[in-house]
Amino acid sequence: MFNLVKGTHDVILSEADKYSYIEQTLIQVAEYFNYKEFRTPIMEYSELFQRSVGDSSDIVRKEMYTFLDKGDRSITLRPELTAGVIRSIVNNKLLALGDIPIKAYYVGPCFRYERPQQGRYRQFNQFGIECVGVVSPYRDVEVISLCYFSLKMLGFKSLKLVINCLGDDESRNNYKEVLRNYFEKHLDSMCGDCKERFKLNVLRILDCKDPADQEIVKNAPKIEDYLTEKSKDNFNKVLKSLDELGIEYEIDRNLVRGLDYYSDVVFEFHYTSSKGINYGALCGGGHYNKLIQEIGGPKDIEGCGFAIGIERIASVMSDDSLFDEIDDSLDCYIMPLDISYQDKALEIATSLRLNGYKSDVNLEGKGLKGMLKKAIKLSSKYALILGEDEIKNNSIVVKDLSKETQESIELDKLIDYLDEKENENHSCSCHHHEE
Ligand code: HAM
Repeated sequence: MFNLVKGTHDVILSEADKYSYIEQTLIQVAEYFNYKEFRTPIMEYSELFQRSVGDSSDIVRKEMYTFLDKGDRSITLRPELTAGVIRSIVNNKLLALGDIPIKAYYVGPCFRYERPQQGRYRQFNQFGIECVGVVSPYRDVEVISLCYFSLKMLGFKSLKLVINCLGDDESRNNYKEVLRNYFEKHLDSMCGDCKERFKLNVLRILDCKDPADQEIVKNAPKIEDYLTEKSKDNFNKVLKSLDELGIEYEIDRNLVRGLDYYSDVVFEFHYTSSKGINYGALCGGGHYNKLIQEIGGPKDIEGCGFAIGIERIASVMSDDSLFDEIDDSLDCYIMPLDISYQDKALEIATSLRLNGYKSDVNLEGKGLKGMLKKAIKLSSKYALILGEDEIKNNSIVVKDLSKETQESIELDKLIDYLDEKENENHSCSCHHHEE
């Protein structure tokens, strides 16, 4: 027996179905917004993340899976996908003026050496998007609204957008200086992490979780007083547009996010369930105005994006029963009553599958009772019974498991029969809907 590597987990059976459902829903929304898929390598040169995610972030300082390959090159398993996607956009010279914006979506595993805990893994999956091009506050709004609609599509009802403006370089440099002056006076009593952050990126002190430090943060100077007119105007346009779209938000002046590449708008979506449980942030993102240049691209190109943790979404959806409405049932479960009918059963299953009916066949040779039990366990709509008479007559018994009715159907009329029944069910439920 081998154990799982600490912080990793198997995604199997119904759990895997949940992941596929989440990913497919997210991809569908992204495609409606005209995003295209990017698949970049899991391994990148370590320097890419040092330059982008940043030397002062916890991710680069403590959490990267970094190793030397046999050619002595420092390689890192990606802790997120933004850096790789931007690298790929730059390397592939996709930024010709006529082609921007580049709208990329991605999904795949990420690696962070974090302390494993509920919902936090060392290998986890992200879905995300990056929109790269010229600057418009409305691009940021489009990114935020894509994130909002995706979560709505997945069934999240009471979402709260938490948003902040970190300003452009000028705003941030001014602000960092006053923050340094402020925190310098309190530093002795602050936690070790804050002392580190003071040296590396003073902004990160703002999201320290230590209660005593939070008291000090409360009275710290606020970014809003140091924003340039341009940043302020930009942020106001974003907020106004969100109002118009009916996306409710809360401005949190201490939201800085854990990655160093952000500037201007940063955001997270928080979720509270119908039972009142606060699950915190489901995803996060923001604008970056220097990242593309930092990775070797042109100077005047900026971007905005977000990423959602699939594990996080799956666990909150399970906990809040949001998967209950998803239909993962089987259409047909075929039950040959004798081993010698199995090849015929397989032939019928193939024809059903080719005609769009999700089907399975019992090849375990259980008795009728056992097979029926299995059909119910699989939430199959129909149980198809193949006995001696049916083999003789080239027919099959179709048992509708929801209505407890059954009929013998000639095999060459089976698909037509099921199509008709499906149509009836469909028009029935539509009718019901209209009432
Ligand atoms: P992030 O906030 O570091 O942002 O990660 C995004 C999401 O990934 C989190 O909200 C969380 O759901 C999930 N996540 C992060 N760490 C873990 C973990 N250890 N286990 C499970 N889930 C985790 C980014 O990664 C940015 N690249 C987002 C972005 C894209 N910003 C602009 N573009």
